[in-house]
Amino acid sequence: MTELSATVRSVADTARWVAYFRARETQRPDPLFRDPYAARLAGEQGFRIANTLPAANKHEWAWVARTYLFDPFISRAIQDGADLVVNLAAGLDARPYRMNLPATLQWVEVDLPDIVSYKEEILGNEEPRCQLKRLSLDLSEVACRRELFAQLNARSTKIVVASEGLLIYFTAEEVASLAKDLAAGEHFQSWIIDLASPGQLRLMQRTTGKQLSEADAAFKFAPPEGPKFFARYGWESKDVQGLLKTAARFKRAPAETLSLLPEPKGDFGNYPWTGVCLLEKR
Ligand SMILES: C[S@@+](CC[C@H](N)C(=O)[O-])C[C@H]1O[C@@H](n2cnc3c(N)ncnc32)[C@H](O)[C@@H]1O
Repeated sequence: MTELSATVRSVADTARWVAYFRARETQRPDPLFRDPYAARLAGEQGFRIANTLPAANKHEWAWVARTYLFDPFISRAIQDGADLVVNLAAGLDARPYRMNLPATLQWVEVDLPDIVSYKEEILGNEEPRCQLKRLSLDLSEVACRRELFAQLNARSTKIVVASEGLLIYFTAEEVASLAKDLAAGEHFQSWIIDLASPGQLRLMQRTTGKQLSEADAAFKFAPPEGPKFFARYGWESKDVQGLLKTAARFKRAPAETLSLLPEPKGDFGNYPWTGVCLLEKR
């Protein structure tokens, strides 16, 4: 293992990396969101990853735009009657503590055991604003996740799923299988995902992705058909927001990327695009 890849020891460490950017955003005088827990959660390891991996810091605007876009999608789903938020691969996300939420809302976070126990250590004494449960589960274990989804389906009436920063680590077959499993429960109504185009995936694989592959956290998923990929598994794309467009709106996009705007219409193909999509059950 190289010195660089040693900073990212496994896919779970990518959660510390994202938390580091949320901490930096929170320190700005004009933050797009505030996460007062992010600095503690990111810890030294988050700082090290962001400042050691090649090009890891270069796309801070994209990480921030992603979190910024997930927030209102989740809020709107709750306003529209969701009584359970299921955050798959929640990592070190602190939304149950930092967002304005109904006290009766159920919120279930799922992630790998190491990151769940680390988070519990840091946030164990904090008070979430809703009914929060944290579960350790490897989402690639199909039988276990199906059992969990069936239990969640039985105990709520309208579920919104968020999976921020997860799908890129899965193959297309794995994403298809997860999409089908989520579509199976009648109360699973919406799913908020982030997505990269094949062009963006190639760029990421050439830079940060090389080191992440060594830590078994290779970037894999970027369907050529974009959000339409999910239609055949029961999910229709209702809203799609590009990260670059969002960052440009807040004057956060670096000058060298602005020539990429406006975004093309239709399939993104080689165009280096990442965005957040709201999917709804068909
Ligand atoms: C880039 S982080 C994103 C974390 C969080 N959603 C956020 O935006 O801050 C990716 C997360 O996916 C989790 N993850 C990756 N593969 C997983 C799997 N098979 N089962 C459960 N969690 C997984 C990692 O542990 C990590 O927390």
